[in-house]
Amino acid sequence: MKGKNKDMVFFRGDFVPSAEANISILSAVAQYGMNVFEGLRGYYNHDSLTMNVFQLPEHISRLLCSARMLKFKLDPAHTQAYIEQKVKELIKLNAHTEDIYIRVCLFLDNFWGWSSQDPVGLIINTFPKDRAFTDLKGLKCCVSSWRRINDSSFPPRIKAGPNYLNSRLSLLEAKQNGYDYPILLNDRSTVAEGPGACLFIVRNGSLITPPVYASVLESITRNAVIDVARSILKVPVMEREIDRTELYLADEIFFVGTAIEIMPVESVDGIQVKDFRPRPITREILKHYFKIVRSESEHFARWNTPIKMTQEA
Ligand SMILES: Cc1ncc(COP(=O)(O)O)c(C=O)c1O
Repeated sequence: MKGKNKDMVFFRGDFVPSAEANISILSAVAQYGMNVFEGLRGYYNHDSLTMNVFQLPEHISRLLCSARMLKFKLDPAHTQAYIEQKVKELIKLNAHTEDIYIRVCLFLDNFWGWSSQDPVGLIINTFPKDRAFTDLKGLKCCVSSWRRINDSSFPPRIKAGPNYLNSRLSLLEAKQNGYDYPILLNDRSTVAEGPGACLFIVRNGSLITPPVYASVLESITRNAVIDVARSILKVPVMEREIDRTELYLADEIFFVGTAIEIMPVESVDGIQVKDFRPRPITREILKHYFKIVRSESEHFARWNTPIKMTQEA
């Protein structure tokens, strides 16, 4: 372990400055993007000097599931407990005193071949991160002309770097056409998700979100929002397919995800979301979500992994 700064990463079993964490340009990750990864958030509490990592075990568990589906042969040392421990150690080492984003990546650290199964490297890095859309109160969305990847060719359930090719195409198209964020439909022409977030709509007092078989990532925030809605707000939640035109009729629409957190949608294809201004359910979800991640709620404290950021801890 080297000295304290905010630029250390965990790489090939050691903590090193990020500039020293280098991989071969001939590796399968450099040539074909062969990796699986997780993005997590840590919320810093200035009173208790604690970094609360949101849903750490859930994220590492999904990372290992992604690696399993791609038949990565992991180093036996890379267990769930080990990876969680290294995330905690790195956060302390980087001594953050602000909200952060944490990236954990397993990648094919080999020479060239995309079908090889090992060696699999582990890299963890952390950096300060604010809200994704600091300057926007709601997103102007469009339905993308690109379809979401599907389980029979390019499973969105596997959180792998190459999936973001589909995300990239849809996001760049949306921006070029003057929108903030796209909504992708799946092969059945029902709503899937955004390029980096899941989607909820509100109709007649119920929350509705596409099921996990609708070409979506099995999102950790999506599960959290369902739990918050059912157990705190007592709002009914339906996991069912959503038609495109329901987006135009919805009372409220919002995206959820680690990076985007909870983000309201203002309009879809130029049609204003009905209750965009009061958005009563979105507002409540947002309020409880931020209370929970900031450890200010009596509910779901187990979702946070607290890391004391003082020397003596
Ligand atoms: C395509 C996609 N869908 C949904 C999500 C939300 O997932 P989570 O809540 O686990 O961050 C993400 C976030 O990475 C994503 O990239």
